Amino acid sequence: MNPVAESSGIPDIKLVCTVCSAEHPWNVSDYRCTCSKKGLLEVRHMRVHSCAERDLMCERSPDSEGFDASGVWRFREAVLPLQASSIVSHPEGHTRLYRRETLSSWAEVDDLAFKHEGENPSGSFKDRGMTVAVSVAKALNAKIIACASTGNTSAALAAYAAQAGIPSVVFLPAGKIATGKLSQAVAYGAQCLAVRGDFDSAMQLVEESSHQLGFYLVNSLNPYRLEGQKTIIWELLAQRRWQVPDWIVVPAGNLGNTSAFGKALREALQWGWINKLPRLVSVQAAGANPFFQSFEKKFTEILPVKAETVATAIRIGQPVNYIKAVRAIGETDGLVAQVTDAEILEAKRQIDRSGLGCEPASACTLAGIKNLKNAGIIKSGDSVVAVLTGHVLKDSEVIFADAAAARAAVTEIEPTLNAVRSVTGLSGRP
Ligand code: F0G
Repeated sequence: MNPVAESSGIPDIKLVCTVCSAEHPWNVSDYRCTCSKKGLLEVRHMRVHSCAERDLMCERSPDSEGFDASGVWRFREAVLPLQASSIVSHPEGHTRLYRRETLSSWAEVDDLAFKHEGENPSGSFKDRGMTVAVSVAKALNAKIIACASTGNTSAALAAYAAQAGIPSVVFLPAGKIATGKLSQAVAYGAQCLAVRGDFDSAMQLVEESSHQLGFYLVNSLNPYRLEGQKTIIWELLAQRRWQVPDWIVVPAGNLGNTSAFGKALREALQWGWINKLPRLVSVQAAGANPFFQSFEKKFTEILPVKAETVATAIRIGQPVNYIKAVRAIGETDGLVAQVTDAEILEAKRQIDRSGLGCEPASACTLAGIKNLKNAGIIKSGDSVVAVLTGHVLKDSEVIFADAAAARAAVTEIEPTLNAVRSVTGLSGRP
């Protein structure tokens, strides 16, 4: 197996337009093709990565030295064989796969596991893509790195840019992102621009600004982000000893993860790492459901929506990775589902009360699984893995949004034993 490529180029990959298939060198920094459709570029690996190589990659563990300890860079030959000196790693990844009896019985699915990406350093899966994108930014000698974000991407960019010593600018929909995420971006030192508009307008503005002002853009239209996010799938398959589950379920906003998961599965099948594909389910909030609506129309068109949902992370009406995500759903015989805000909040309550906890967008997975089980699409004997994308502390507003519930959970008392007796109803030891 090749160690990290020490030559100046990266011989093993090309960037290819997802619309016209034109090839571009790896070190361009504009990830839209010059073709009439301005197709997004994606990474094509020119070399097969065998099962033997896969197993060697998996032997690199969290206890390894340096970036071998990263759940992303241990797969570097199949992610991006970048020079060691450019790699900016926390490290990240190596998140756990959990089972909770209460959640299995609530969803009525026996073999249900949760991969908790909230365990990444900045509290969401975004770190997996950001370590790769910021490493490329460093290799390309980028002067300023930028993104638009509903919150988590900005937190991850701010952290990795700080580590790399490169300034970052984040474009946020004004007043629309959870405080936990905004405080991370501020703490890590990003320049925060609160754009008067929604995420979709912030996304358009950051693309235009990157063109005009030369920012290096790390939204999920950046193909290297998706290469890092592929490792969520490879890691969960490794944790299952490469036994493919029947279903993998993920929340969907800008459709970066859906696209990355499709690519991870396609490559794993091509390289012989797995011998069949799971069915991929992307779950959207009903108030931010352009991908679901398109799925209902057999993907003949996608229309933008004015997005509104309690799950602020996925309040997105014009997903940039649509074409790649359609391919991911098609190739895996997958599905797109939608869930209401009430269903999201109920599923989140279940996940929180199981002790796992997650942010609202992540709870779309469990809500979607329950609906699909009730509809007879997921069967009780099926094996299902849900990806929890963000940590419970990311969005505390939502926990306290229901004033009555918050009052019931938090009772202010005088510092006396009698007050404790009175609120707990206990007079002695139970
Ligand atoms: N879950 C969480 C917690 C997210 O932060 C996001 C996206 C998603 C799911 C959806 O993933 O966009 O790949 O379909 N957050 C982005 C951000 C948009 O700016 O943090 P996707």
